[in-house]
Amino acid sequence: MRVLLVAPPGAGKGTQATRISARYAIPHISSGDVLRSHIERGTAIGREVQRFVAKGDLVPDEIVISTLAEPVLEAAESGGYVLDGFPRNAHQARMAYDLAEPLGIEVQHVVALEVPRDELLRRLRTRAQVEGRVDDTDEVIEHRLELDEAGSADLLAYYDERGILSRVDGTGAPDAVSERLWAVLDAIAERAGARQP
Ligand code: AP5
Ligand code: MG
Repeated sequence: MRVLLVAPPGAGKGTQATRISARYAIPHISSGDVLRSHIERGTAIGREVQRFVAKGDLVPDEIVISTLAEPVLEAAESGGYVLDGFPRNAHQARMAYDLAEPLGIEVQHVVALEVPRDELLRRLRTRAQVEGRVDDTDEVIEHRLELDEAGSADLLAYYDERGILSRVDGTGAPDAVSERLWAVLDAIAERAGARQP
């Protein structure tokens, strides 16, 4: 099964993608985690993307796509993936489709997690105290939320037109959100022939 989680910063992409990965036995690929790993390891890509990530700016599309191509391809060959944080705008989505479709590894379903802005802020501020991510300062959080608002409508419209989008309420406890996800994804997994929970 090949699925994508689209949601604003703090909505629970990472939290829920980890659970999706476990339930359907598919690798979880988070674009943010991949980029942060490059930064931590001090790779050439890491040095290139560091300033974008620290400021909460989007890393240029070409860099993100070239960085993710290999892990996504590998995951698809091993039975699928749950992607979190990529594509982030309609341009990335079209580029990804053009690369993936000829290989038969394009995304099969997209879940948009919906969480109100005040709850996103609450979650990110709480996480800032625990994890200390460089982009979890109030100023950078605000910028990330603005960029998400600017790019997500076109992205969701693109998947809606393809008929593969589900919108899921991302509020409440993580377990409650997961239950809503299973209500959508169990059927998708069955159709995709993925391992059943
Ligand atoms: P990325 O790492 O993707 O960050 P993000 O989109 O801002 O999202 P977060 O990771 O902050 O939130 P999340 O939705 O994963 O929520 P989480 O589960 O952690 O991207 C970082 C940067 O990398 C970007 O700013 C950009 O620079 C670059 N980048 C990445 N992808 C890119 C792309 N495609 N193109 C260009 N640039 C790109 O939850 C948040 C907190 O809430 C946690 O503490 C969690 O424990 C808690 N929580 C989760 N669920 C609940 C719940 N139900 N109730 C209460 N608390 C909850
Ligand atoms: Mg995340």
